[in-house]
Amino acid sequence: MNILETKGLFHDFKGLEVLFDVNLQVKKGERHAVIGPNGAGKTTLFNVITGTYRPSRGQVFFKGKDITGARPHELNRIGMGRSFQITSTFNRLTAFQNIRLAVLSKRGIRFQMLRKVDGMGDITREADEILKRINLDRERNMPAGVLSYGKHRSLEISMALATDPELVMLDEPTAGMSRDETHHAVELIRRLTEGKTLVIIEHDMDVVFSLADRITVLHYGQILATGPPAEIRQNQAVKDAYLGELEA
Ligand SMILES: Nc1ncnc2c1ncn2[C@@H]1O[C@H](COP(=O)(O)OP(=O)(O)O)[C@@H](O)[C@H]1O
Ligand SMILES: [Mg+2]
Repeated sequence: MNILETKGLFHDFKGLEVLFDVNLQVKKGERHAVIGPNGAGKTTLFNVITGTYRPSRGQVFFKGKDITGARPHELNRIGMGRSFQITSTFNRLTAFQNIRLAVLSKRGIRFQMLRKVDGMGDITREADEILKRINLDRERNMPAGVLSYGKHRSLEISMALATDPELVMLDEPTAGMSRDETHHAVELIRRLTEGKTLVIIEHDMDVVFSLADRITVLHYGQILATGPPAEIRQNQAVKDAYLGELEA
C-alpha cells in the first residue's frame, strides 16, 4: 500500500517549471530516499507535499486521502512530520523547550482539554524521554543555539519525530555534518524511524545506499527512476545523468 502518492504534480515559480508530472509512490513502512542534483526540485517537492506550496497542477494523497493544499499543521495532526533543509529550531529556547513544543503540537487540542487535569507533567515526561533517547539529556537546559552543529540537527530531526508521525519527511538532515556526526545522525534516524515510513532527501550516497529501501531520482523536476538501491545503481539513465560523475 502506498502511504504517500503524488499524481501528475507540477509546480512553477512565476513560470519557471520546477516540477514536471511527478508521480511519486512511497510504500508504507519503507525508507525512501529522494536524490538528484542541486536544483532538481527535491525541496520544492517536499514543500508541495507538506503543504508549504500548493501545486500548480496535480494531487497529493496521504493514506489514500487527497491532501492537496492542506496546511502543514493539518498534515501534522494526521500523521505527517517533517524537518527542513535549514535548521528550524528555536535558538533561544532550550533543547527541552524545543522538544516540548513539538510534543505539544502533537497533543494540540487534546492537550487544551487535559490541561486542568495533569497535562503538563505528562508532556514534560515525554519530552525528557525523547531527550534521553537522542542523547541530549545533558544538554537539556542549554539554548538550542549553543549546541554543536551535529547536536543541533539531531534536535531538529527529533522535533520532526516528537509528534510520533507515521510518515517522516527529512530534507538533507546530514547537510554540513562531519563524517562522525553523519554516522551518528544516520543511526539516530534509523532508530527513530523503526516501524514508520521515511522519505529522506539526501546528497550523501553512502547514507542513501545504506539507509534506503527504495530510491527515487529526480532530474530537472522529473522522476528519472524509482527502485531498490541495486537497481538504481545499475540504471543507465541515472548513471548518465547523475551517479556516473560520482563514481568516476
Ligand atoms: N521560492 C522560490 N522562488 C523561485 N525559485 C525557486 C524557489 N525555490 C526554489 N526555486 C528554484 O527551483 C529550482 C528547484 O529548487 P529546489 O527545489 O530547492 O531544488 P533541490 O532541493 O533539488 O536542490 C531551482 O532552480 C531553484 O532556484
Ligand atoms: Mg533542497
